[in-house]
Amino acid sequence: MSLLISQHWKDYELLDAGGNKKLERWGKVVTIRPERNAYFRSVIPFEDWYKQADFEFVEHSKTKGEWKVLNEQAPKKWTIGYKSIRLNLELTKFKHVGLFPEQQANWEFLERNLKTDDRFLNLFGYTGAASLVARANNADVFHCDSVKQVITWGRENMESSGLSDIHWVLEDALKFAQREVKRGNKYTGIIMDPPAFGIGAKKERWKIEDKFSELLELAVQLRAPEGFIIVNTYSPRLTAKDIRQSANHILENENIQVDTLCLKTVTNKTLEYGLRTLIQP
Ligand SMILES: C[S@@+](CC[C@H](N)C(=O)[O-])C[C@H]1O[C@@H](n2cnc3c(N)ncnc32)[C@H](O)[C@@H]1O
Repeated sequence: MSLLISQHWKDYELLDAGGNKKLERWGKVVTIRPERNAYFRSVIPFEDWYKQADFEFVEHSKTKGEWKVLNEQAPKKWTIGYKSIRLNLELTKFKHVGLFPEQQANWEFLERNLKTDDRFLNLFGYTGAASLVARANNADVFHCDSVKQVITWGRENMESSGLSDIHWVLEDALKFAQREVKRGNKYTGIIMDPPAFGIGAKKERWKIEDKFSELLELAVQLRAPEGFIIVNTYSPRLTAKDIRQSANHILENENIQVDTLCLKTVTNKTLEYGLRTLIQP
C-alpha cells in the first residue's frame, strides 16, 4: 500500500496538525478542527495557532460541539476556488465546512480520466466537489445523496461555478444504484464516499464493513467496459486486506489499488484520512 498524497492549492492549505487537532487555511479563513488521526505533536506551538485562527470547533462529545469565534471580523460563510470551480463554505453545526480537501487527489484523477459526455456517478456526493470537477470536464454527471440540504448546497456550488445540467438525485445510494442496475444504465466513472457509520431515514443502521461488498457488487454492474471505480473508506474495521478480498471475490484479473489517502502539512507532517481503492481493468 502506498500513500496517495492530495495536494494543497491556492485556496487551501493544511498548515499544521498535532495534539488531535489540525490548523487549516480556506482562502482567507483559518480554522482549528478536531482530528483524531493527528495523534502526533504539532510543529507550531498551539499559542501561535490561536494567533492566526479565526474559528475553532470545540467538541463536547463524539457527535456534538460548537464553533468558537476567535476573530469577530472573519466571515462565517465564504467562497473559495479550486481551478475553475467555486465552492461555498460555512461553519456547520458539525465540524465540517462543506468540503473534504483530502479528496483533491481524486479530483485530479477525474480530470485525467473523464472525457466529454462520459457518464459519471458520484454516490454519497455531499456538496459536490467531485461532481463539479467532472462537469467542468464536460462529463454527464449523476450526483446522489440522501440529505436534501447537501443536494441544495451542491446546486448552489454548481451555479457559483457557472456550470449546469448535473443530475441531482435525492435518495439512498444503495436504492438508487439497485434501480440503475435494473435499468441497465452504465457509467464510465463511479466514485463512492460512504460514511463509516450512519443512521438512515428509517433508523436503519449503516456500517460500511457490512455494506462494502454489496456496494462494490452494484458498482461493478454499473461500470461501463474500460470504466473505473473509486471507493473511499474510513473505518478501521474495513482493512485493505478486507477490501482486496471482497474485490477479488467479485472481480477477476482487475487492477485493485488500495492506497492511504493523506495530506501533508505545510510543516511537513503526514496526516492520514482513510483508504482509497481504485479499480480499473
Ligand atoms: C463523507 S460525505 C461524502 C463527501 C464527498 N465525497 C465529498 O468529497 O464532498 C458522506 C455523504 O454521504 C451522505 N450519505 C450518508 N448516508 C447515505 C445514504 N445511505 N445514501 C446516500 N447518501 C448518504 C451524507 O449525507 C454525506 O453527504
